Amino acid sequence: MTSQESLLRSEKSEAAARTHGITLNGRELRIRPYRDADSDEVQRLFYTAMGTGPGSPYRLALHALPYQPAAYVTYAVFGSALLLFNKPSFRLLGFGLSLGAGTAFFLYRRYLFKACMDYCQSCLDSDLADIGGHYGMRDNPAIFHDEMGAVEVAKEPPEILSSARSCSNRFWVVEDLSQPQEGQRNAIIGSVGLDGSNCEDPSVAEMRRMVVSPYHRRRGIGALLVRTVLDHARKYNISTILLTSTTYQPGAIKMYANFGWKPTGKKILLDRVTNMYLMKFKLDLPGVQTL
Ligand SMILES: CC(C)(COP(=O)(O)OP(=O)(O)OC[C@H]1O[C@@H](n2cnc3c(N)ncnc32)[C@H](O)[C@@H]1OP(=O)(O)O)[C@@H](O)C(=O)NCCC(=O)NCCS
Repeated sequence: MTSQESLLRSEKSEAAARTHGITLNGRELRIRPYRDADSDEVQRLFYTAMGTGPGSPYRLALHALPYQPAAYVTYAVFGSALLLFNKPSFRLLGFGLSLGAGTAFFLYRRYLFKACMDYCQSCLDSDLADIGGHYGMRDNPAIFHDEMGAVEVAKEPPEILSSARSCSNRFWVVEDLSQPQEGQRNAIIGSVGLDGSNCEDPSVAEMRRMVVSPYHRRRGIGALLVRTVLDHARKYNISTILLTSTTYQPGAIKMYANFGWKPTGKKILLDRVTNMYLMKFKLDLPGVQTL
């Protein structure tokens, strides 16, 4: 038996748990490596979770907009304009001001929508356009054997196994196994990626594309995805995991804080009207031996 085969076999019991799925709050779920056939569903899930769906950063920013300082300025202008309406000689000015304030508010909402959707599109055009290629998972059966404990592992040529072992990048999806869809694929309700390609240091990687379907949140799926990433990082001697988030992702920030991620900096996104900040976080994994 080669050393690669024995290493894979020793991880089999942990991997087997994933093959059979887990029950979380009464739902049968399975975390598995991404396959190319998942592409459309993962992209749709990302767009819903980050863009248009309930609880997305765009929706939260939109709901917060009426309470931002800039919004109070438009209310003040609008209120003054209404007062001017009572004075015949200023009526036209009042009309112009109220129209201007209402238009500014409406246009800003449109701008916010466009900025958020452009951001989603830029993600869909980057790593999410080719997840298999970007995360080194395309047609690489060794990854499935590694993670899922498949029995055919011994049949794979050693060069495929070694390429999977040297690639710490990975992308996972969460399948909902309990949906009764006769003849249909299981729905994908979560995803996350670990990406070392932007980090020069091989012991550092970035956690990206963490999303859970808006209809399956607060059931522990996000935490399960984080634990999957952390297990994988430890296995591949990744000692630091970076990530970015925004002020309009309070659930994510709370979850990352629970796992020990620490903020390392923030900068304003868009403009000061929405008060949206890009926040950077870092987690050092204790006990990981870097090469
Ligand atoms: C962030 C996200 C992935 C969390 O997924 P989830 O499955 O709901 O998370 P979990 O149920 O595992 O929650 C784990 C912990 O995180 C915290 N948390 C998660 N969502 C929260 C929320 N909306 N408000 C407050 N705390 C929250 C809680 O501490 C929670 O533990 P608890 O339920 O025992 O209190 C999900 O809300 C999401 O997809 N959000 C939109 C996309 C996004 O912001 N992604 C992050 C990119 S950086």
